[in-house]
Amino acid sequence: MTRPSVRIAPSILSADFARLSDEVSRVEKGGADLLHIDVMDGHFVPNLTVGPPIVEALRKVTKLPLDVHLMMTNPDAFIPEFANAGADYLTVHVETCPHLHRTIQSIKERDVKAGVTLNPATPLSAIEGIIRDVDLLLVMSVNPGFGGQHFIASTLDKISRARQMIDRTRSRAALEVDGGVKVENAAQITRAGADILVSGSAIFSSADYGATIKAMRQAAQAARKGIRSAGAAAGHR
Ligand code: DX5
Ligand code: ZN
Repeated sequence: MTRPSVRIAPSILSADFARLSDEVSRVEKGGADLLHIDVMDGHFVPNLTVGPPIVEALRKVTKLPLDVHLMMTNPDAFIPEFANAGADYLTVHVETCPHLHRTIQSIKERDVKAGVTLNPATPLSAIEGIIRDVDLLLVMSVNPGFGGQHFIASTLDKISRARQMIDRTRSRAALEVDGGVKVENAAQITRAGADILVSGSAIFSSADYGATIKAMRQAAQAARKGIRSAGAAAGHR
């Protein structure tokens, strides 16, 4: 099956918050496909960031889909607020959701795309029962909480296995990877099976956001083409 092009989701965690609207319009003009918004509660992760008012404010200044990553202990209590604020995707951590099926349904009932994510040490088997119900599977490639950390190399194998699980179960979930994604490793991560690359510091610390997004996309698309031609040569895809 041919998948759509790889999408790039800049994470505003590394943006200049005093000039957020301007930063967002720079990545939008630079070709971003989604805007990744990291919500941290100071409890599930050791950092505090933004809540529904910022999502609502961003909704007014960009047409990009808002990809909201909820790093919080009690996401259920905030799903209505984030949905009303204009989130297009709401992604919850499996580690914080004892009733994951109910949580995913409550996101979908609000016409928001539902995502689930796993910390690096959480096994993929934790989401096997929900994979066909979600629109997005996010594999964390750093321990969540901060931007600018190094990509954990052992997550590449998990990304490949996540790809296999999605394909095997015929889930419609897009496979997103978050943490330490840069131009230099975009090809490798795409080859492992990613559909969406989240990138914060690599984009926002560069001089030209558009050029960085473009270089990341080119690296990813070249890797995607390589997979397709290898598949065609082997007689499948
Ligand atoms: C990590 C966040 C990421 C972070 C990625 O806790 O979920 O979205 O912003 O930042 P970089 O790309 O700098 O690792
Ligand atoms: Zn994130």
